[in-house]
Amino acid sequence: MFSRVHSTLARRTRCALHSHFLSTNLARLPSVSERPAALPLIAQAIRPSSSFPAARGPTAFQRPLSSARLLASHPASTSSAHSQQLQPFSSSTAPATPAPAPTAAPSLDMSAVVKDHSSQSNFHELRVVHSSYELDVDFERRVLEGYVELDAVAQVPAPSQLVLDTRDLSITAVHLLPLPLPGEQQGQEQGHPAADPVPLEFNLGERHKVLGSPLVIRLPPALAPSLQQPGGRVRVALRFATCPSSSALQWLSPQQTAGGSHPYLFTQCQAIHARALVPCQDSPGAKMSYDAVVRVPYPLTALMSAVPREEAGQGQGQGEQPDVPHLASVQHPYPTRTFAFMQKVPIAPYLVALAVGELESRELGPRTRVWSEPSMVEAGAHEFADTGSYLEAGEAIAGEYVWGRYDLLLLPPSFPYGGMENPCLTFVTPTLLAGDRSLTNVVAHEIAHSWTGNLVTNASWEHFWLNEGFTVFLERKIVGRLRGPAAFHFHAAQGALTLEAELARLGPDHPHTALVPDLSGGVDPDDVFSSIPYEKGFYFLFYLQELVGGPEVFDPFLSAYISAHRHRTLTSGQFRDFFLNYFKDVPASRTVDWDTWLYAPGPPPATNTYDTSLAQAAYDLASKWHTCDVIGLGSDGPPGASPADVSGWSSEQLVAFLKRLGQLRAPQPMHKRTTARLAELYGIYESKNTEIRFAFFKLAIPAKDEAAMSAASDMLRSQGRMKFLRPLYRALFSQGGPVGRQLALDTFAAAGASYHPIAQKMVAADLGL
Ligand code: BES
Ligand code: ZN
Repeated sequence: MFSRVHSTLARRTRCALHSHFLSTNLARLPSVSERPAALPLIAQAIRPSSSFPAARGPTAFQRPLSSARLLASHPASTSSAHSQQLQPFSSSTAPATPAPAPTAAPSLDMSAVVKDHSSQSNFHELRVVHSSYELDVDFERRVLEGYVELDAVAQVPAPSQLVLDTRDLSITAVHLLPLPLPGEQQGQEQGHPAADPVPLEFNLGERHKVLGSPLVIRLPPALAPSLQQPGGRVRVALRFATCPSSSALQWLSPQQTAGGSHPYLFTQCQAIHARALVPCQDSPGAKMSYDAVVRVPYPLTALMSAVPREEAGQGQGQGEQPDVPHLASVQHPYPTRTFAFMQKVPIAPYLVALAVGELESRELGPRTRVWSEPSMVEAGAHEFADTGSYLEAGEAIAGEYVWGRYDLLLLPPSFPYGGMENPCLTFVTPTLLAGDRSLTNVVAHEIAHSWTGNLVTNASWEHFWLNEGFTVFLERKIVGRLRGPAAFHFHAAQGALTLEAELARLGPDHPHTALVPDLSGGVDPDDVFSSIPYEKGFYFLFYLQELVGGPEVFDPFLSAYISAHRHRTLTSGQFRDFFLNYFKDVPASRTVDWDTWLYAPGPPPATNTYDTSLAQAAYDLASKWHTCDVIGLGSDGPPGASPADVSGWSSEQLVAFLKRLGQLRAPQPMHKRTTARLAELYGIYESKNTEIRFAFFKLAIPAKDEAAMSAASDMLRSQGRMKFLRPLYRALFSQGGPVGRQLALDTFAAAGASYHPIAQKMVAADLGL
């Protein structure tokens, strides 16, 4: 049933190999729900010092099948080493950072017993706490060849196996590695009897459509006696390769990049795609530190969600590649270079990220630079010039920034999200390049994730609102701090419109409109994704803030919440308990209807009121355009309408006008004569701001305005951000009449292949394909 490992590693692995493993290893594992939830709470009590890898010395770089990693230190002492910059690589000068002893034993972590329906791993029994990667990026085969050493710590007595998540990975070898004895330096362990890597039996289980294939690695007590006690550790090494169609990766041909001459690769692991990149325990509850060396074709640059450590072996050409010793058998007929990274702060695996391309950077501040293809880097530096002040505002509200650097990577247009909070290196879409910094609230949002999401993390994707609702709240606090409370309220009111529209789209009884949806049974978190966790989550937090006495009392609560849960995960129930305890002397806090807020579908059970002073002019103008064409028969606009109506307005005000008009027109679309007139008067087609065009298209497609539908199709062909793709395809397909429907299908036929794999899948589903 278990395949025996061959000591000679296959030089090239392919998806065919993966299918071979599938067909020859059909032993069905117990499903998550069949397995005992089992976990003594004492598991956490042993976690502190033993859960962080011991020091490794530089000699590790020279020995085969031994660790080449540096060490992850305790989360409490992370920032100083993170300020390192790219330096010329030299293995002999690589610092062996000793792990400082933790300052205090963490208290009991209830997240240890939270079930994650989206992972098949056994992190509750044996938890990976550090991963050390070697990666080779092969653009020709569209494959990442990898080697990883995993350090795992027993959470219960005598776990007999390590179970990892994988999806479409081939696994060619698994070994148990010797660990340094207490007091021994890395590199000395070959002196003792257990120094040789020992092949381990492993089995890739049946592939679940959503969750992938659990990789079960046997750890018989005779081989791993250290695991008999909770807190005991093992180190396991794996050789693996990704599949060209990995859902975690988008491989771009040179023609799909701005520069046109080099290929590009980027990852997107949230929510459950890390397992399609690397074998891991793909649950937010399995936080780990990591280090990596990545070999790429010269002259490309690799970046990761970590602090760059050194730059290695530039343009070495063929021949020996000492920097990826375990991938020495992987050779290329072209020159390569190698980059090294270290992420010392334990992160959830969904935050592992990699990008490779022709990349250049501009410094924006002492800990911030923007990276992108050379032709976009100046535009990026201009657009994101305010990043430093967002970061400082975030720190003032939420506390210490523990990640060292905060860099931005401006991706090619197919990046499927507005932004992704990869630690140390936020990924952002180029659709933010409006030229006037008007869309940089997305950067404030991703910065806010440095505390809510990356430091304090949802225990499973059911509690995603704890990541996103809190982050929207903090994003708006940051904006409010820089531009005043009215700006906070302006964005809050816009968010309420988004929430109302999303509830109307899904329907009030739709289970996905609950703040905490049910993901049991292998539901794909990508299928549940919507604005609900963002905006219903924000709405709830604002409600709680007002209930207990406003920002004066809620801001200190927010910061206490963050310091109490940093480096941890939590559930909505744990949030409720923390809130109730913190506000136990505030009687109003006991009036919250938690069950309805958290678990009931439909609109929030209370109504917030916001200061709409900054939005009033926009709302008034929306009313005029609404009344001039109230039953959709067509109009040239309100009497006296002219470009002067919006002169001097910010892009945000224009978006507010269009969104409000969208809300008023939900029951009855406008006439296309009216939308055409509106576009002409207010210069919609000339705007560089994608949010303005998007908000207009949502009004004009139901009006069957051909010019707008064709411009929307152009937008769908030129970028791949799902926030724009999905609503525009849906609107064309179901509200744009026969012309719109055909245009949606034709546009997807032409542009679909250039979208990210997740976006392709989502849009295809939206179009019923
Ligand atoms: N973490 C999300 C993006 C994400 C969510 C990726 C779920 C995969 C699964 C990110 O922080 C985000 O929310 N981005 C928003 C921007 C924001 C201002 C609401 C986006 O992409 O539009
Ligand atoms: Zn977010």
